[in-house]
Amino acid sequence: MAILKVANLNKRFGKKEVLKAVSFEVNEGEILAFIGPNGAGKTTTIKCILGLQKINGGEITINGFDIKKDFVRAITRVGAIVEAPDVYMYLSGMDNLRLQASLYKNITDEEIYRVIKLVGLENRINDKVSKYSLGMRQRLGIAIALINNPNLLILDEPTNGLDPEGIKDLRELLINLAKQRVGILISSHNLSELESFCNKVCIISNGSIIKESSIDTLKNLSEVKYRIKIDDTKKLTKLKLEGIKVIDNNYFEVYKDEDCISEFIRVLVNNKIDIYEVIKESLTLEEAFINIAGGKNV
Ligand SMILES: Nc1ncnc2c1ncn2[C@@H]1O[C@H](COP(=O)(O)OP(=O)(O)OP(=O)(O)O)[C@@H](O)[C@H]1O
Ligand SMILES: [Mg+2]
Repeated sequence: MAILKVANLNKRFGKKEVLKAVSFEVNEGEILAFIGPNGAGKTTTIKCILGLQKINGGEITINGFDIKKDFVRAITRVGAIVEAPDVYMYLSGMDNLRLQASLYKNITDEEIYRVIKLVGLENRINDKVSKYSLGMRQRLGIAIALINNPNLLILDEPTNGLDPEGIKDLRELLINLAKQRVGILISSHNLSELESFCNKVCIISNGSIIKESSIDTLKNLSEVKYRIKIDDTKKLTKLKLEGIKVIDNNYFEVYKDEDCISEFIRVLVNNKIDIYEVIKESLTLEEAFINIAGGKNV
């Protein structure tokens, strides 16, 4: 079931159109990586979803409720961190959590301990936040976002400033939440940080979604890069081969379907080109994505 539906979202600041017909969905238990460069519109999209920015066109529904018509019901099961976690530095982690819990009805201590354990802050929860590392503050931010037991979690660039260990912990935490059917929207500049645990990728550039795809589709792309060593790459010119990239006098690269590579090699052999090496290199998801997104620089 779709927890979040964004359809044809438009947003202007003055005359500047910063979101143009942005559409995507997040389903139960799904982790959507929302990828784009600085200024692409990630934070603005997230702010529109959370009702922190007025929208100029399109629809956003959360758990079936339209945020324009039914905001309170739409937002009750959403947890979010936008730009940086909102925490009070001079309070302890625990006091921050209690403060957040007091905004809702009936959040028990048990519930608070549950989220503390979930983010792995048991040992430091009574320390002042000013003594936390950046990664610990991120974890506390996520605990705060989780306190009302949301089924949609929205994280704006949570990997900013995290070390590889911190990213690994975040990854485990999010996978765990997704298993409990929480839908997660997570933005980043960098697909490679998220590709190991997201199910879907959505690339935004200049306010438009330029590509949306499931990770499985990306991983199953049959196009593979081959690196081929021959006697002289100048010989390739007269063959007018498509999609090749010459590296130097001996090496060139070509993207080919696995079942087309033998035919390609036959063409080389028939043209008296000596082949010394054919090395198959699988694409990183980032490369695959840029390829199918038509070479856009992300
Ligand atoms: N309050 C505002 N008033 C005017 N323009 C704004 C405002 N907020 C954002 N913008 C513009 O909207 C565009 C999208 O900004 P946004 O913050 O959504 O990008 P982003 O993808 O989150 O970038 P980053 O990776 O740097 O966080 C930018 O051109 C930005 O300058
Ligand atoms: Mg941003």
